[in-house]
Amino acid sequence: MIYKLTLSDIKNKIVPIKVKTLGNPITIENEQAMALFAKECAIKAQNKDVFTLQGPMGAGKSCFARYFIRHLCGNNIDVPSPTFTLVQQYDTPCVSIWHFDLYRLENPDEIYEIGWEEALHDGVCLIEWPERLGSLLPHKRHDIVFEITSPETRQLTYNMLE
Ligand SMILES: Nc1ncnc2c1ncn2[C@@H]1O[C@H](COP(=O)(O)OP(=O)(O)OP(=O)(O)O)[C@@H](O)[C@H]1O
Ligand SMILES: [Mg+2]
Repeated sequence: MIYKLTLSDIKNKIVPIKVKTLGNPITIENEQAMALFAKECAIKAQNKDVFTLQGPMGAGKSCFARYFIRHLCGNNIDVPSPTFTLVQQYDTPCVSIWHFDLYRLENPDEIYEIGWEEALHDGVCLIEWPERLGSLLPHKRHDIVFEITSPETRQLTYNMLE
């Protein structure tokens, strides 16, 4: 089954994740629908949650992270892609958010130099290019796989692993 997240879902504030979509592909019609999906993930996020964002360049991983972080930190906050810094941390009154982009990580062990243990211990992690972590990737996590289906549309598959 493919669950299509439509603009009327947004308008009517239908919240489909974890109900209809777990493990099933979700069609995201445009960036506005991506914003809604990211917001719903942010609303439900709890301390120590790890979200992996997998997919090719331009699939919308940073875009998802930006809307997720803005929901918790405020719409005016600047959320640059941590392509070169590898990680960017954001503090909110409730939780810290650690946004990793591991594309440039050459060896999984380098993750320990950029706050990995602190992030896992106290915070919500959003991880682009999680493949770079190999066996260091936590088993308990939320996986979101992004696919590009047209210039405007994306297909996401969301899974929770225990
Ligand atoms: N439905 C959509 N959802 C998300 N982004 C979209 C969508 N439609 C178009 N876009 C555009 O696609 C681009 C996604 O770029 P983004 O930086 O988020 O990709 P990425 O997956 O993080 O790539 P990278 O692996 O290089 O970090 C943005 O320019 C965004 O405006
Ligand atoms: Mg990115």
